[in-house]
Amino acid sequence: MNAIHPSAVVGPEVTMGTGNVIGPFAVLVGRVELGDHNWIGSGVTIGAPPEVRGWDHPTSWDSVDGGGVQIGHRNVLREGCQIHQGWKAVTKLGDDGFIMNQVYVAHDCRLGSHVTMASGARLAGHVVVQDRANLGMGALVHQRRVIGAGVMVGMGSVVTRDVPPLALVMGNPSRISRSNRYQAERIGLSAEDCDRLDAAYRSDLSGVVAVELLASTAGASSLVEEWVSARG
Ligand SMILES: CC(C)(COP(=O)(O)OP(=O)(O)OC[C@H]1O[C@@H](n2cnc3c(N)ncnc32)[C@H](O)[C@@H]1OP(=O)(O)O)[C@@H](O)C(=O)NCCC(=O)NCCS
Repeated sequence: MNAIHPSAVVGPEVTMGTGNVIGPFAVLVGRVELGDHNWIGSGVTIGAPPEVRGWDHPTSWDSVDGGGVQIGHRNVLREGCQIHQGWKAVTKLGDDGFIMNQVYVAHDCRLGSHVTMASGARLAGHVVVQDRANLGMGALVHQRRVIGAGVMVGMGSVVTRDVPPLALVMGNPSRISRSNRYQAERIGLSAEDCDRLDAAYRSDLSGVVAVELLASTAGASSLVEEWVSARG
């Protein structure tokens, strides 16, 4: 069973599992796959056409074309979020995301699981945000950038470069400041490994030294592999 508010619009190509709550005036259109137990706030739009100049905008809201949107399980999407259809590929959200009000996820973005995006954070097209990353209020990410697992992006920051796993970045343009020790501890790194990682990020703000260290750290090497793979 899903609890869909009577004022919500759910298009004919939308599929969903069970236990979803769809709020007032939410609009779900085009090819959208929603898993189980997601909470969709009022005025959220999922699946509007990709914002691509020259895109053949549909003649009817029943036939919104695109690469689709896939949303996993137990995500919370607060008021006014915009999740656009894919263009070249599907736009994807994993599981257990906390996506606060007015967040924008553009076409072809891929979010991992346990991602937090604070109010008004915005991703341009094709951005990858890996597991447990946290984007502060109003953060902006340039198209095609890859935010590694466990990264913290400071409030109002403008991310113009890929950010390696477990880094903390801030500013405009954002720069590495230190490690995100909170997440390093949460994924189970020892106190010594957390200290080493923090020292590496603080001593070499390019992140190269820290990435080499992570690649040889038990329990963290897979984060580097996933980050490198997403960068293509
Ligand atoms: C980035 C962040 C995690 C850093 O926290 P912190 O390490 O405790 O940082 P501090 O407050 O000690 O500040 C350290 C320095 O960074 C600066 N700074 C902090 N946050 C910054 C940001 N977002 N952008 C630019 N500079 C920032 C501070 O001014 C300070 O500079 P100074 O040393 O020249 O005085 C935090 O400031 C932040 O932005 N958190 C997200 C907040 C948010 O989005 N809240 C909404 C949740 S609903």
